[in-house]
Amino acid sequence: MNVFRYVSDLGDLPSALGEAFELKGDRFKYHDRGCGKTLLLIFFNNSLRTRLSTQKAAMNLGMNVIVLDVNQGAWKLETERGVVMDGDKSEHLLEAVPVMAQYCDIIGVRTFARFESREADYGEEILNQFIRYSGRPVLSMESATVHPLQAFADLITIEQYRRKARPKVVLTWAPHPRALPQAVPNSFAEWMRAADVDLVVTHPEGYELDPRFVGDVRVEYDQMKAFEGADFVYAKNWSCPGVTCREDYGKVLSRDMAWTVDSRHMAVTNDAFFMHCLPVRRNMIVTDDVIEAPTSLVIPEAANREISATVVLKRMLETL
Ligand code: CP
Repeated sequence: MNVFRYVSDLGDLPSALGEAFELKGDRFKYHDRGCGKTLLLIFFNNSLRTRLSTQKAAMNLGMNVIVLDVNQGAWKLETERGVVMDGDKSEHLLEAVPVMAQYCDIIGVRTFARFESREADYGEEILNQFIRYSGRPVLSMESATVHPLQAFADLITIEQYRRKARPKVVLTWAPHPRALPQAVPNSFAEWMRAADVDLVVTHPEGYELDPRFVGDVRVEYDQMKAFEGADFVYAKNWSCPGVTCREDYGKVLSRDMAWTVDSRHMAVTNDAFFMHCLPVRRNMIVTDDVIEAPTSLVIPEAANREISATVVLKRMLETL
């Protein structure tokens, strides 16, 4: 595997899930695979879980790890070609990427949507420069439109806790004070469609996700109706994806607190498990009582980030 962005990059999903559960039993099973190999993690944006779990995954495989926070200690990078670099940016990504590649075997990149242009974000301009110019396998650690390590961990968590063969999984928008990217809901919808679940998406009008991720999945604008009989509730905020109105891309269209997931919502579910990728704003996205309930899976989900990253890195190492 040379690139990890989409569920299809992983190959056969049931076999990847099998490997995930094998690694949950013994996370050091393939400790010899990464011996003498180096993983470089590049962060353009903050992280807690991705930063720690991906390093831990590399250690599980016996790899060396280098972490670079681009905005703290490195030269400020220009990303647009053709720009006269007379401002505060000292180095161009076109030199920086091949230089970084000299020191590693695999590169992970975190680079969020910038909301300057939908075309640039949905064209994954930064991640694609790493893919194009590094000559190394590249994995998205949340890029402008996708967060595949999170979605794979979410799927592992659903497999771990599901009580029926084809659970009802509800992806719900919830309010947030700031404009957030669509990477998590995009990948969650994409990965759930590839898995054997009954997915329903619910959000206020204007928040329609890109069809390339959500396909023809049922969208229910009545949140309470969507929650009825749910086995898993996955909450996340996202800003306007600009599908129905391009000019609104990246905007906050609603702060309606009636969408906050609370006990009233959970009462109409099938005693659903609550999920969120974290970090979460309590009492905006979800109330204290719901996130603290025994049915909250936010910690097991975060734990499975180590497993999803171990499977992905193992598969990348196998193609070196
Ligand atoms: N869920 C997730 O990716 O968390 P971080 O942003 O802390 O890495």
